[in-house]
Amino acid sequence: MKKILSVTQFLLNGLRKHENIRCLHTGYISHQKQFVLTKDRYPHIKRGNYTELNDNHVKFFKDLLGSDRVLTDPNDVQPYNTDWIKMVCGYSRIVLKPKTTEEISNILKFCNKEKLAVCPQGGNTGLVGGSVPVFDEIVLSMSLMNKIININELSGTLVCEAGCVLETLDQELEKHNLMMPLDLGAKGSCQIGGNISTNAGGLRFLRYGSLQGNVLGVEVVLANGEVLDCLNVLKKDNTGFHLRHLFIGSEGTLGIVTKAALQCPPRPKSIILAFLGVEDFESVLSTLKLAKEQLSETLSSCELIDAPSLDAVNKYLGIKSPIDEFPFYVLIETSGSDVNHDEEKLNVFLDKAMTRGIVIDGIVTNEPSKMQNIWQLRERIAEALLHTGAVYKYDVSLPVQHFYEIVPLLQNELKDTSATVVTGYGHIGDGNLHVNIAAEEYDQDLVNNVIEPFVFKWVSEKKGSISAEHGIGLKKTEFLHYSKTPEAISLMKKLKNLFDPSGILNPYKVLPLH
Ligand code: FAD
Ligand code: MLT
Ligand code: ZN
Repeated sequence: MKKILSVTQFLLNGLRKHENIRCLHTGYISHQKQFVLTKDRYPHIKRGNYTELNDNHVKFFKDLLGSDRVLTDPNDVQPYNTDWIKMVCGYSRIVLKPKTTEEISNILKFCNKEKLAVCPQGGNTGLVGGSVPVFDEIVLSMSLMNKIININELSGTLVCEAGCVLETLDQELEKHNLMMPLDLGAKGSCQIGGNISTNAGGLRFLRYGSLQGNVLGVEVVLANGEVLDCLNVLKKDNTGFHLRHLFIGSEGTLGIVTKAALQCPPRPKSIILAFLGVEDFESVLSTLKLAKEQLSETLSSCELIDAPSLDAVNKYLGIKSPIDEFPFYVLIETSGSDVNHDEEKLNVFLDKAMTRGIVIDGIVTNEPSKMQNIWQLRERIAEALLHTGAVYKYDVSLPVQHFYEIVPLLQNELKDTSATVVTGYGHIGDGNLHVNIAAEEYDQDLVNNVIEPFVFKWVSEKKGSISAEHGIGLKKTEFLHYSKTPEAISLMKKLKNLFDPSGILNPYKVLPLH
């Protein structure tokens, strides 16, 4: 049995040169030759009966916002039409960049009256095609709504505008010894409004829970322009329906989130990261169980990387792992207030894990730059896989005992097809698996006839969810029934109709067409 390297013995190998690379580059150039319009890729989706943009509309928006905050040059508009994985592409002619709630209210009032469809957009890092227009919807970019309104160190609360970038918020909170309860690979670009609208999960859900728990209040502009002020900062408030929860995860279909209040935990004084190699999936489960038992209140993240995912990070991004040749790697993070206490607990855990033969090799560090380098091995898998050409991404919740079963099944199912790699990674501590299938070229028939029927049926048979954290967006509307009953879908449609009777807010998303 090999010995786990201590903090000081840890070698960076090929990682060092990537230290400063951000986890996300929204300007990523796809290897795909050209963008296929969503209307051609999904021909069954028909444009709704919305008004087409005309010069009078453009004049109204320019009078309201000023010309510089109304983009109409096709070169300026194009990035807002295409999603991060370059799989959906609309043909909007206009992007609006409001700076205030009042401006958004006036925009929606006008769009509602004129029956102009609107697609709200945050950092455009969404992975289910929700953040870009399907046809010619007006893009409402939230990026200039980026002011921090208040940070209260004593109560541990943050109030800010919806367009604040997640990482920026976390950096500001650090000055007050607080942190964002949410962290994800897209932190350098995604916005808190987008996070709330997708109910994003991320890397520390295991410790801090969902945004449904952490968002204390929201301000929302409704489809008719009405401003709904639910910007509560109290941690406890049981006065009637919790209206904010309707907007958390509704992906811009019920209203535009303009401001948010969040509870923010104290920033831990001690963080330690262990990156462990294990020989089979049974040992992954044993590692998770032991980590929960031994690390308990200090455990802040437990993530899984399989060998094909690590290979992709190495092959396409040149990032070398300090340990390799294992089928599975488990990343375990502890956070606490006393480094000696946390280290002692981690050492007991590692000792037990190695003595029992669950963990074979690994490294441990508490040096920030080294931890950041290890996190890249996990956070940049999505980016690495994009280099293959096309990636079909599935984000499922599963009972943890079935967590990885689907990956070898899919590898077998797809062995004689254009798929080149099938990987599984994700938030194993929360039962959230990311199954990614990579190929050189996008193949809609493979998606429609082989991959999706297989994945969604299998997940629903295992009583899983077809979307653990990315949402439904455009791509999964027709599969919603695998995770929601007809009664639930019908009630969702009634709510949509109540909030947005003209259907102008992010049409074609979340709800099934029929
Ligand atoms: P966008 O992509 O712009 O929009 C997402 C949806 O929200 C769209 O439907 C849009 O219309 C709507 N929307 C955006 N802003 C508003 C608003 N203010 N009001 C109303 N509606 C709005 N997701 C996870 O859950 N966990 C992860 O660990 C994770 N990791 C990721 C890693 C990478 C590298 C990438 C590229 C993505 C990852 N994602 C993850 C997916 C994505 O980052 C999240 O869904 C994120 O919350 C989207 O935020 P955004 O600001 O980019 O929103
Ligand atoms: C992640 O956890 O890395 C993200 O959700 C993105 C992905 O699914 O690739
Ligand atoms: Zn994820």
